[in-house]
Amino acid sequence: MNNSKKIIVTGGAGYIGSHTVIELLSQGYHVTSMDNFSNSSPDVYRRIEAITNQLPETATVDLADKKACLEAFAKHRNAFAVIHFAAFKSVPESVASPIEYYRNNVNSLLNVMEAATEAGIRNIIFSSSCSVYGNINQLPVNENTPFSKAASPYAYTKVIGERILEDYCQIHPEAKGISLRYFNPVGAHPSGLIGELPLDRPNNLVPVITQTAIGKRNQMEIFGFDYPTRDGTCIRDYIHVCDIAAAHVAAIEVQLEQVNYDVINLGSGQGVSVLEAISAFEKVSGKKVNYLRSPRRPGDVEAIYSDSSKAGKILNWTTRYNLEDMMKTAWQWEQNLNNK
Ligand code: UD1
Repeated sequence: MNNSKKIIVTGGAGYIGSHTVIELLSQGYHVTSMDNFSNSSPDVYRRIEAITNQLPETATVDLADKKACLEAFAKHRNAFAVIHFAAFKSVPESVASPIEYYRNNVNSLLNVMEAATEAGIRNIIFSSSCSVYGNINQLPVNENTPFSKAASPYAYTKVIGERILEDYCQIHPEAKGISLRYFNPVGAHPSGLIGELPLDRPNNLVPVITQTAIGKRNQMEIFGFDYPTRDGTCIRDYIHVCDIAAAHVAAIEVQLEQVNYDVINLGSGQGVSVLEAISAFEKVSGKKVNYLRSPRRPGDVEAIYSDSSKAGKILNWTTRYNLEDMMKTAWQWEQNLNNK
């Protein structure tokens, strides 16, 4: 096996991880997914195979367990890169359970970095988030926008994670690190075979919308109608998960060899309010979504969207899916889940 084609994906059964595994397999990479299915299911691998005709190599491992993590990586010495997705990712959950979030997200990153070093793997891509910016008045945000205070423990785990990787790269000139700051990844693979599969009750906006439309919930809540935005609801930069996946392959091919450490925003560049997202969904699905006006959700920032010109320039990457595509594919996925 040509090691330049060997990629370890932590959290490869998860939402963004599984879409990235598909993209990597389709581009001829050999993929090993390490996952403990804490918010995913092994069935995802079978679905990846149905889409790509290839089954990734897999290892069931809790990366927050250092011994288990070191052992898993030792079997993949000299792989070209690790893409580290495995992490807890709910803003409200992190507000309610900060210790669990810090323990899981920080420990697993530290373990992955130590294990990668021991296994001679030099390239690390870290799943970061636009939440690192906090509440920012000057929009859009670019990679040089100074951070304001992290609004949630989830966000702070990403601030810490970026810093750990940056400090590591500084003392390891042979290493290469990239933090990719995702804005709000939504939608599903156009095949309808994989998508977001939260085991618990989801609390991200788009799965909540599709679950309400299909009748799994009587109504959804909109958290906050009193923000100083055009319609009073929060503004986010939604981006199709397949666009995010493609950017990872571009980062591996174009960027990893160029830098010691870099950060890149991955967003569509468009600010969309919660009400606008619901309208876009209603338009493509023909379904009415019942909602309730609820108080603000702790940990939410008011508005954020991306200046993605750096990603466009250095990754030679651009988004292929618009908001309607995001809603269409999310709706197709929800309907398929229901017909299972
Ligand atoms: C945050 C991060 C994002 C990360 C994601 C992982 C920010 C700005 N973004 O997304 O980078 O990928 O966590 O989970 O920090 N909403 C409702 N009703 C609901 C659910 C959500 O009104 O039932 C609203 C929220 O209040 C928010 C918007 O929809 O204004 C988006 O929420 P959500 O999908 O949970 O994502 P973020 O928390 O913005």
